[in-house]
Amino acid sequence: MDFLSIENLSKSFDGVTALRQVGLEVKSGKIHALIGPNGAGKTTLFNILSGILKPTQGRIRFKGQQIDALRPDRITSLGIGRTFQNIRLFKSLTVLENVMVGRHCRTRTGLARTFFSLPFKKLEEEINIRDMANELLRFVSLFDKKESKAASLPYGSQRRLEIARALAAEPLLLLLDEPTAGMDTRETEDLAALITKIRDQGVTILLIEHDMHLVMGISDVVTVLNFGRKIAEGHPREIQSSPEVIEAYLGAQE
Ligand SMILES: Nc1ncnc2c1ncn2[C@@H]1O[C@H](COP(=O)(O)OP(=O)(O)OP(=O)(O)O)[C@@H](O)[C@H]1O
Ligand SMILES: [Mg+2]
Repeated sequence: MDFLSIENLSKSFDGVTALRQVGLEVKSGKIHALIGPNGAGKTTLFNILSGILKPTQGRIRFKGQQIDALRPDRITSLGIGRTFQNIRLFKSLTVLENVMVGRHCRTRTGLARTFFSLPFKKLEEEINIRDMANELLRFVSLFDKKESKAASLPYGSQRRLEIARALAAEPLLLLLDEPTAGMDTRETEDLAALITKIRDQGVTILLIEHDMHLVMGISDVVTVLNFGRKIAEGHPREIQSSPEVIEAYLGAQE
């Protein structure tokens, strides 16, 4: 059974066609990069995959199930997690609380219950969530900061916190939208190692990223979008030498 299969996907906004008949297969256990110039349609594809937007046309199957008409929370519980190009954290909650919130789509305890009174029988579940959140914070090297408010973290750390929060829902597929945006070289290198570590834990990665050094260094497959169309796909080496890809990027810089 295919892991993730996207067929003939199109999306139009009033007057703007963001995606044109895109087909994409993501294989389980891979780091699959999605690149392309600004406005190519990358984030729109993520918004459709995660159920925030509905496609104008096309079909998406995840582990054999059609998901393109499902609500975002349902898609999360099926095993697709994501981070956002514009960081979306609960800024006034602590680092630990932000990760705990990410867990709640998997448990019966609603979000509101966490921060108010808990019935006794829910307490055990709550303690497990806390343990798991602590473990995830160690995994992304933010354990020391767990009591800090999310808003007080430097930008690069906020991006790692978003990843921990997404992992709390135990995704099988993790969508990362420009995870190194705003990071320095050192933070970017650490993030490359973290993404690889996540993949090695069995989580498939679909990665939107503008840092070509990172993309070419860690990806198994690269898909290139330009003006909403898929223009190339293959191993990083093939992509780097593809005339269409070079043209798309050079054109975009003019
Ligand atoms: N909600 C929306 N309403 C109207 N137009 C939109 C919406 N979302 C995206 N678009 C348009 O669709 C096109 C693709 O945008 P998208 O954000 O998917 O590009 P991107 O590849 O993620 O670009 P970037 O690298 O700059 O993040 C753009 O022309 C954008 O203006
Ligand atoms: Mg984008």
